[in-house]
Amino acid sequence: MNILILGSGGREHAFAHSISKSERCQKLFVAPGNAGTVDIATNIPIDVTDFKAVKAIVLEQNIEMVVVGPEDPLVQGISDFFREDEALKEVMLIGPSKRGALLEGSKERAKEFMSQHNIPTASYASFTKESLAAGKEFLETLEPPYVLKADGLAAGKGVLILDDLATAKKELENMLSHSKFGAASEKVVIEEFLDGIELSVFVLTDGKNYKILPTAKDYKRIGEGDKGLNTGGMGAVSPVPFADPTFLQKIEDRIVQPTVAGLREEDIDYRGFIFIGLIKVNDEPYVIEYNVRMGDPETEVVLPRIKTDLVTLLEAAYQQTLATCEMTIDNRAATTVMLVSGGYPEAYEKGKEIKGLEKVQDSIVFHAGTRKEADNVVTNGGRVLAVTSLAADFRSALKKSYQNIEQLHFDRMYYRTDIGFDL
Ligand code: AMP
Ligand code: GLY
Repeated sequence: MNILILGSGGREHAFAHSISKSERCQKLFVAPGNAGTVDIATNIPIDVTDFKAVKAIVLEQNIEMVVVGPEDPLVQGISDFFREDEALKEVMLIGPSKRGALLEGSKERAKEFMSQHNIPTASYASFTKESLAAGKEFLETLEPPYVLKADGLAAGKGVLILDDLATAKKELENMLSHSKFGAASEKVVIEEFLDGIELSVFVLTDGKNYKILPTAKDYKRIGEGDKGLNTGGMGAVSPVPFADPTFLQKIEDRIVQPTVAGLREEDIDYRGFIFIGLIKVNDEPYVIEYNVRMGDPETEVVLPRIKTDLVTLLEAAYQQTLATCEMTIDNRAATTVMLVSGGYPEAYEKGKEIKGLEKVQDSIVFHAGTRKEADNVVTNGGRVLAVTSLAADFRSALKKSYQNIEQLHFDRMYYRTDIGFDL
């Protein structure tokens, strides 16, 4: 079948890499894609939230499956758009309906869902401009640090963790009354702070049954030792060594199972990925957040470990036959190290020539922010390349990634040398 992947990052290159290996895939398209996907697929320069343009491509190229990478088109209802369109309704779109996508699109909705289905998470309350005074009073009842979350999508920037009460009150006011995160912070969720170590679990669900994919941990901060500004992710490791079978069983029983049961009970059409951000506090798992897509760079370590044909799994998710599917996982560990543009996550330059790609051996270089310029590959974003390796354990895998990084170069290239330092 012909398959279209929507998105342009390392996650989408990793999807393209796995899907292009499937015998089930005839022609593969990525929209808009990058300089990495162009080697294994046809790139199509359209905006992923331009549903009409997506429809035109699907019809023109006889696409039978669409894999949605980022959250924006899902939260804007691309799945419903397909289901309601005569010409598109048979196309296998992998991603939840708009109602399902609200688990990421609204932090308040996610918290309500968790409380309705008894899924462990931090206690919370939510506030609007009208209830600002009550919000400030609520902060006074909490212990620092204070966790403030913009309700809506804020490109990963909408969470503030503040040590001091006066600052927390001021920021609450900035969010609610001065649109700090635009419309996303018209509502703010204030949460109890949970102190522990984070990991992520990825689930592929057909809305009734599910497959738990390998666990992963990403490194969000720009600086070594998890210092400095938050980024989209500077590296990742899979599996997560501290997620032992007992802990994983708790995650499945208390979180994954009730989440999928909750979707079913609420009659939500959810055929796609759930990315559950978790925190381990005294050996107990709590949900930090839901995302309704795969993570980036976690996908770059999760998908290379899935041995089962990915197209078969995705089709089963769409057809709601996941229960009858087997999934085998590579026992090796996978790591990825992200190479970013100097200045990221603040201002950085684009268009720098990337050298040494042909010298990489025994690692996979997933392109994140790249484009072709004549015969050269140049940088086209803050996160540029993700260098993924597989080996018997995560330390050996990291060694391979770091050795190959020595071969790669672009002006003001930066990366963390301490991925996995805390494991
Ligand atoms: P989120 O966008 O909800 O994933 O939040 C971003 C980051 O903020 C998370 O990855 C955590 O590191 C941190 N965080 C969010 N909520 C909490 C919480 N209740 N307690 C401690 N840390 C949190
Ligand atoms: N790596 C975090 C995310 O994809 O949201």
